[in-house]
Order: sequence, then structure tokens, then C-alpha cells
Amino acid sequence: MTNATTNPATTYNSGKGEGEPVGIAILGYGTVGSQVLRLMLENAEAFEHRSGGPLEVKGVAVSSVDKHAGSLADQKGLLTTDARALIDRDDVDIVVEVIGGIDYPRELVLNALRNGKSVVTANKALVAAHSAELAEAADAAGVDLYFEAAVAAAIPVVGPLRRSLAGDQVQSVAGIVNGTTNFILDAMDSTGASYDDMLAEATRLGYAEADPTADVEGYDAASKAAILASLAFHTRVTADDVHREGISSITAEDIEAAKQSGNTIKLLAICERLVDDQGNESISARVHPTLISRSHPLASVDKSFNAVFIEAEAAGRLMFYGNGAGGNPTASAVLGDIVGAARNKVFGGRAPGESTYANLPIADFGDVPTRYHIDMEVEDRIGVLALLTQIFANHSISLRTVRQEEKDGHARLIFVTHTARERDLAATVEEVKGLVPVKAIKSVIRLAAQ
Ligand code: HSE
Repeated sequence: MTNATTNPATTYNSGKGEGEPVGIAILGYGTVGSQVLRLMLENAEAFEHRSGGPLEVKGVAVSSVDKHAGSLADQKGLLTTDARALIDRDDVDIVVEVIGGIDYPRELVLNALRNGKSVVTANKALVAAHSAELAEAADAAGVDLYFEAAVAAAIPVVGPLRRSLAGDQVQSVAGIVNGTTNFILDAMDSTGASYDDMLAEATRLGYAEADPTADVEGYDAASKAAILASLAFHTRVTADDVHREGISSITAEDIEAAKQSGNTIKLLAICERLVDDQGNESISARVHPTLISRSHPLASVDKSFNAVFIEAEAAGRLMFYGNGAGGNPTASAVLGDIVGAARNKVFGGRAPGESTYANLPIADFGDVPTRYHIDMEVEDRIGVLALLTQIFANHSISLRTVRQEEKDGHARLIFVTHTARERDLAATVEEVKGLVPVKAIKSVIRLAAQ
């Protein structure tokens, strides 16, 4: 069951010694990079105390110097368009990557690690796609790879999973890790408005990007789920291992039905340790709209806030809440990592690296246990309910509640199932869809575990 060790004894970094300056290169000067530089310069004295030596920014790499004319970085003479040369400077010890994207930052980050520089990145897509080669390069050079800002920005969750919970057994992590989708779903819940109207509002307020696909279709959350699952279960999980569904099909009617049953709908990143009847362990990482009880701690996470709910064997339930995006909140996490990496440069040693020793298999999504909330319109006549309940029974699915309402001459039926395998639930819905008395399946939404 073991395939790797944590922090293999490769190059030992013995440290420069207290009082020695630590050189920093910042790659990217957007919303996050500009706040990182500002806060580093404003709090230089405090950072020196916390790191053991002064932190000196050696340069800020950008794609166009003109674009940032007059900025703080420009005033300090730090701007350069030559990121590679900046990384290669002998007086640069730590490279801070806040560019975004995958291919170009991957090349720069690998180059930095291979040249013995520690790396701090906020780039979830990069870490979720390439953790193996990044960790390998960091291990080989004996340097740090920090990425607290990659998941839920200011909320400390990577550090707690890597360090504070290293002595515990994490059972599950459920997170609202995308602020844009939480804003949209919360606004739909509180106003009754449609998805399209609330997406437009999120765009107007600057939460959603011009192309909102990465957020609303769950790609951003899936990268974060991969990172959380890797850390929680000591197993390498990439974004491709995460089952992903977005929120664009959620209707005002779904939200209203959720409310009527005492629930709300959240886009959750769910990472779980599963144990089958034979005691075999596997893990599941998935992102999909999920019904949760309004009394669940995650239900009160409103607007664009993020929260991560962890259940661990000894610790019990933990919840981390706060700002999951934005310049300053992201800079806060980046700066914490810079201080950690700088301390190691000054005093020697490394932070915990990638831990993949458990190497658990990723469960087939069809085998994942879940519950469904199914809302449908059917003909209101004798035998229809009996026909439908028989189909559930044929697929070994037990019903928890069934509600029927009159609707425009039809019957509206809302089924809530007990826990069953995803594959059986999906097959049931497929079979039900094809029945003559079933006029429409209005929605199928999974419920959080009880
Ligand atoms: N776009 C993300 C969000 C923040 O809406 O939360 C960066 O991951």
C-alpha cells in the first residue's frame, strides 16, 4: 500500500543563517501580485522578525511594463518582462507565482524548483494538474512548494490538512470552494430569481468572469477538490479524477423545492474515504450541486464566502470559513507561505512536502454512495405511484419520503431516496424517464450524506 515517502532525504538545506536577506521574485502583477508586493513593502519590518531575515523583492515579472507604468512595482524599479532571467538570479531564493494558467507557469515553476528556489503559488489549476512533477522537482532540490492560496484563498486549509491534521485520519472534506457559484446560488435562494439573472448580477458585481465557465461548470472547484483530497487522504488525486457537475442547470423551481423541504442548494466539493463491505478502502472526490439541510453549518455560508467542513476520526468536525477569493485575501495566504518558505531558507529544513504514501484507489463514480432528490410530473391516475415505486425497488433503492402535489392537472411527485449506489440511482432515473405516465423529470439533485 505504500509507494512514496514524505520529504525524502535528498538535498538538505542547512539555511543561510539568521539575519541573511531572502530574495523574492514575484511572477505576475495582477490583483494578487500587486497586493503581495504592497503588503511586503508596508510590513517589511514585521516580516523580517517573522522570517529571521529581511525579505527583499528582487523583481516583478509582467507581460508588459507599459501596462503597469506608475504602479508601486514601477516606482520601485522592479518590473521586468524577463521572468526566466529573474528566476535564475543568484540572489533570488523564493519564486512567487501568481500568473494563473497552466503551461507557462508550469515551465517557470519547474525551472525555479530545479534551480533550488522554493516556490509559493496560488495556482490551483497548476497544482491540481501537475502535482507529481512539481513535488518531484521540489524533493530533488530539497526546496519548498507551498500553495495555501490555491484552495479558498485566505482560509487556512492546506496548512491544517498538511500539518495540524497529520496525526489524525480524515474521513471527509466537504467544501464551498467557489465564491462565484455560492454568490449565484445564495442570491437565487434569497430572491427567487433565475440562474441567468443571478449570473448576470454576479458578472455586474465583478464576481463572475466574462467567460464564467470555469466557475459555473465546476472546473475551479474540481481543481480545489483534487488538492483537498490529495492532502486529506495522502493519495495523489488530479483534477481528472474528480467527478464534476456545475450549477448552470439549477432552476428557480429547484431552489424553491429545496426550500420547501428545509434544504438549500450549494455547489459542494466532496472528498470522502469509502470502505466497502469487504473492508477495502477507496476515495471519492466530486463536485456537484448538493441539497443540504438549512441547519447544516455550510448552509449559512452566504454571498461569495467559502467554507470547508472536515470530519476526522479524532478531531471530530471542524469548519474553516472566510474569504475564498480577491486580491487581499489571496495575498494573505501567499504571504503566510512566503514567510514559511523564507524561515526555511534562513534556518534550514523544509516544510512538509507531498504525502502520497496511502495511494488509495479512486472509487468509480458509479459505486459512490449517495442520495437523490427527484422532482417529476406524472399523470394523476391509478397505478402510477405503484409503478414508480416498483422501479425504485427493482434497483434496490429504498425511498425515504414521497410527496405528491396537484399541479396543472398533473401530479407533482418528489421522491427522496435513502443512500444507494450512484449507478443504481442513475439507472432508476433513466428507466423512469422513459415511462408513458411520466411527463417530465424536473430535477435530480443529490443530497448530502445524513
Ligand atoms: N473564481 C474563484 C471563485 C476564485 O469564484 O471563488 C478563484 O479560485
